[in-house]
Amino acid sequence: MPYLTPEKKTKHTAAEKKTTQSATLKSGYCVIPVSGPHQATRMIQDVSEGLSSSPQKYLPCTYLYDAKGSELYEQITELAEYYPTRTETAILKQIAPELRNLTETQLKEPPEMVELGSGSSAKTRIILDAWQLSNQCLTYIPVDVSETMLSETASALTREYKQLHVVGLAGDYQDALNFLPAQRERLFLFLGGTIGNFSAESQTAFFQSLQHKMGSGSRLLLGYDRRPHATKTKAFIEAAYDDASGVTRDFNLNILAHINQKLGGNFELARWKHHAVYNSEAQQIEMYVESIEAQSVYLKALDRSFSFEAGERILTEISRKFDPQELSEWFEKLGFKTIKHWQDSAGWYGLLLLQA
Ligand code: SAH
Ligand code: AVI
Repeated sequence: MPYLTPEKKTKHTAAEKKTTQSATLKSGYCVIPVSGPHQATRMIQDVSEGLSSSPQKYLPCTYLYDAKGSELYEQITELAEYYPTRTETAILKQIAPELRNLTETQLKEPPEMVELGSGSSAKTRIILDAWQLSNQCLTYIPVDVSETMLSETASALTREYKQLHVVGLAGDYQDALNFLPAQRERLFLFLGGTIGNFSAESQTAFFQSLQHKMGSGSRLLLGYDRRPHATKTKAFIEAAYDDASGVTRDFNLNILAHINQKLGGNFELARWKHHAVYNSEAQQIEMYVESIEAQSVYLKALDRSFSFEAGERILTEISRKFDPQELSEWFEKLGFKTIKHWQDSAGWYGLLLLQA
């Protein structure tokens, strides 16, 4: 396996991987930057395109996550209004032994688990706890664009789990998938309802590339948030994205602070407000930052100014909600087979176990 030998608190460059054909993994962790220097150029392009877009200006939601954004997201997961995390956690706790039986036997030893958009890996611990029962070594490969969160989590996990090797891939999903050697049987995790943050178009591109990296025995555990229905109202969903304590507002506005920091911008956060609404037609939450007054913002890295009218909004995130049957059929059309489908008793949230 072309991974590096992880040593505690050691970072390796992506270039090193090319010279390492195979290495024995020792207990510990490493974090490998997979996006490289083009990450900065990509951000300039993305922000330039998004803020020039007409009639709707937008910013890719990936830029919500710098170190502060990841911290704020963690706080969101604890909010009373934010039901997805606690609902997914409850389902995972309930299904953990069954999940282990459904995945472990398929995987060659030592088993390998890849998590896309891992964040703090809080819910992953439920799966790790179940797998620990079998007393074998496990390689865990968390992928996240938020490098601080990824490094802290990798370090914490190796202290908590003695038989765990953690190979963190810091960067964009696509760069991480390109980096991963193909055709190994793995368990992939994509939790939190993050599938909903893709547009329909990018969802197809993402799962097609993932499929290429999934050997025939590989499995994907996917969490998704359900559409409104009798016991899940639109107002209930909206409250999850506009909490009373304002944590989601801070999380949303932090995208502007992130751009200021990385691109030398002069966004003044006090001149922007948070807006989140459920669009019933598109079946998605839409999160915007709204300009309180007419203003102009300069971004040094682009050497360009952008004007905003009073009340003008920048779309910062969509969070699509799904119908269980439709989603499972969508995956089947793409060539995935549904192995198992779980939901909470109220039908707010679902988990799909898929095979490529
Ligand atoms: N899976 C966790 C975290 C979800 S938040 C949970 O269920 O709670 C989404 C995570 O995806 C964040 O940690 C963010 O940093 C990461 N992320 C967002 N866009 C990304 C991208 N393009 N590539 C890699 N990671 C990304
Ligand atoms: C990570 N993702 C699934 C979250 C969501 O619910 O769409 C991000 C988030 N945005 C606002 N609150 C949480």
